[in-house]
Amino acid sequence: MASIITPTGTFQAYRASLLHFSDDPAFATNACWWHEDGLLIVNDGKVHLAGDFSQLIAFLPQGTPLHDYRGKIIMPGFIDTHVHYPQTDMIASPAPGLLPWLEKYTFPTERKFADPEHAANVASFFLDELTRCGTTTAMVYCTVHPQSVDAFFTESEKRNLRMVAGKVLMDRNCPDFLQDTAESGARESEALIKKWHKRGRQLYAITPRFAPTSTEAQLELAGALAKAYPDTYLQTHVAENTDEVAWVKSLFPNARSYMDVYDHFGMMRPRSMYAHCIWLDDTDRARMGETQSAISICPTSNLFLGSGLFDFERADAKRVPLSLATDVGGGTSFSMLQTMNEAYKVARMGGTYLQAMRMFYLATLGGARAMQLEGTIGNFVPGAEADFIVLDPKATPLLARRTERTDSVEELLFAIAMLGDDRSISATYAAGKVVHQRQD
Ligand code: GUN
Ligand code: ZN
Repeated sequence: MASIITPTGTFQAYRASLLHFSDDPAFATNACWWHEDGLLIVNDGKVHLAGDFSQLIAFLPQGTPLHDYRGKIIMPGFIDTHVHYPQTDMIASPAPGLLPWLEKYTFPTERKFADPEHAANVASFFLDELTRCGTTTAMVYCTVHPQSVDAFFTESEKRNLRMVAGKVLMDRNCPDFLQDTAESGARESEALIKKWHKRGRQLYAITPRFAPTSTEAQLELAGALAKAYPDTYLQTHVAENTDEVAWVKSLFPNARSYMDVYDHFGMMRPRSMYAHCIWLDDTDRARMGETQSAISICPTSNLFLGSGLFDFERADAKRVPLSLATDVGGGTSFSMLQTMNEAYKVARMGGTYLQAMRMFYLATLGGARAMQLEGTIGNFVPGAEADFIVLDPKATPLLARRTERTDSVEELLFAIAMLGDDRSISATYAAGKVVHQRQD
């Protein structure tokens, strides 16, 4: 045991209750790791060891700083697998459904990202807001402007965050000022892949907005790029709203379903992330499971825009990789705790029951798995990047009162998921460095 820790590098140690997952609690027993009095040992920005304080303390190299967070919970940073940074300034904009909301608020707001200074200003605020809410990785839509991607990755790189993002592709059914062409969109995306993909912690996502705003030629080129660069990501929206589904049917009359449009163009593959997935059928879900195409469940957005209720049971039946997401600005909160709260209610409305353990899994290792990043982020296996948060179970008077009266870890986590928000995040660390510290 003593040889596990060699006294080299820059060690830091953190004492608190520890929570992380090795598997999906819905399918595996012993998937949750809870150390009531735990110790997380970090070396050079990576997890060295995580476990019981009593077992690990004897092996800390002499002089290692020990941060005492007793009374709090240390867990992996949240992973938000679908969010639009340019929509930060239009969160909470009222509209009767997705399509009018896009027309009235989204497109005019995204127009402003032609200006790189504006893009940098919003990207900076957005990333500060994510880390304030305990999110350390996100899959992010920029706008159609390549400069919006440069601005985003520049700010992410400054904070050394692991982020995935891409330029929106949109060559029809949108205002002229946001329109690219199949050819220019592919060319600009490829240049951005070469510039940003795997530069430090940054990763690129090919980003056709959704089938209605891309011609067949554009989807064809997006699929070809996805094939040419198989370790990049691909993200889009699918089957969010019934009006949108009907529109896709009229635009692609030969497709078996909305999902089948993407399948036809070679866009279903590992590292593809599909937001919403409400109005799918079981053939679509089976195809997602087979191709390891992942779902971003966006409950605050789906309730806010009246899109529908995600069906957890049917997705689980086909073993589709699942993850949770805020979808700001359609979503109404940057907090993944608030997102869990709404996910729980969506599941209840569908007759399903989501355990707190499952929700915390979906917001951490579930996201990492959906992005094929298990072992890199999402839990505390040795060698994982040390992205973690310090959760405060007593962040508000009500939380303190409720969490003092819980009888199990499940009850404690459930209360935090229902009552918690940005105030519950005492500190956020990215690659072992503080990126947010709550002012008490
Ligand atoms: N579908 C196409 N674009 C968008 C968007 O920006 N937000 C949401 N929620 N759905 C979309
Ligand atoms: Zn979205």
